[in-house]
Amino acid sequence: MTAVTDFIPQAYTQKITQKGQFQWSAPSNIALVKYWGKKEHQIPANPSISFTLNNCKTITTLEFEPKSSDSNDFSFDLFLDGKPKEDFKPKIQKFFERIAVYVPFLKDFHFVISTENTFPHSSGIASSASGMAAMAVNLMSMEKLFNPEMADDYFWKKASFLARLGSGSACRSIKGSVVVWGKSESIKESSDLFGVEFTELIHPNFQQYQDTILLVDKGEKVVSSTVGHELMHNHPYAAQRFEQAHENLAKMKQILKDGNLKKFVELVESEALTLHSMMMTSHPYFILMKPNTLEIINKIWKFRQATDIQVCFTLDAGANVHVLYPENGKEKILQFIKDELIGYCQNQQYICDEIGVGALKLD
Ligand code: DP6
Repeated sequence: MTAVTDFIPQAYTQKITQKGQFQWSAPSNIALVKYWGKKEHQIPANPSISFTLNNCKTITTLEFEPKSSDSNDFSFDLFLDGKPKEDFKPKIQKFFERIAVYVPFLKDFHFVISTENTFPHSSGIASSASGMAAMAVNLMSMEKLFNPEMADDYFWKKASFLARLGSGSACRSIKGSVVVWGKSESIKESSDLFGVEFTELIHPNFQQYQDTILLVDKGEKVVSSTVGHELMHNHPYAAQRFEQAHENLAKMKQILKDGNLKKFVELVESEALTLHSMMMTSHPYFILMKPNTLEIINKIWKFRQATDIQVCFTLDAGANVHVLYPENGKEKILQFIKDELIGYCQNQQYICDEIGVGALKLD
């Protein structure tokens, strides 16, 4: 068992007196069983499981330099695509405040954080998961300078632990290809504190599983995820939903081992619709799907019925649709997407992605 206190470091053996930098990429992820609802300190109300993606990622360079003054504040500049990004700074400030006790060197340095996404920004794709994951692995590279003896297992666990404190789902973006976050009886090593790799043998049906993301609506969401999670407190169906997520995780574990695509489709779509039903039954209630989201869902159902090809959809906290399908159906499904679905996307935009391996060190 790993406890929160295990991530508070002992006295470091090394000092950093020079400036330096690291660069990492971290991908986005797509949940199959959804995280929706949390307790204090970013502890999830239920376990979730996701596919790590490959192409949608954030690349972040972290430059650090020992501070010349003794100021007790965090000191950092932030750039997105080479341009100062003042409106992201409060997020990073809050992240630093949450993790300071676990990475106590933060206040001794000035940082320049330069970040870019491989997907179009304001595409409505969550960049917080990949962004926070990329920050977390950079900070772990830095901690390794202070503690060169650090074991690999600790490096990755703590990276996921830190990422979680930035954004819950970010803890599932450190490793691949399938990650579980949240304590669950069906996954022995699972934890509320960090994501763990799904170590069972995954059926070849899920190898190179495809995710084509249809950009239905790129506008600002009416309700943020943070507010949505909050609304699960005092939600009339919360208790049943959290229990169901545990059951669905156990089912998903079996499906991933057996390679049963029909059952996969059923479970994934049910999870997506349950997530959105939770939103619709919150107080206040809200809807993040758009008319085109429903048009796409109906088209997918029709196509599946007509062809018996096991393609399905899932949704995040937004209107965009993730179309999930096995690699061997790629040609036909992409044709279907081009012929019948992209008309429902803003500017006909979509992104082709697939299962990936997690964060990568680039420098
Ligand atoms: C609907 O991880 O964005 O995508 O922890 O408040 O940052 P915070 O929330 P966030 O929630 C994402 C929820 C979801 C489902 C999921 O990814 O499991």
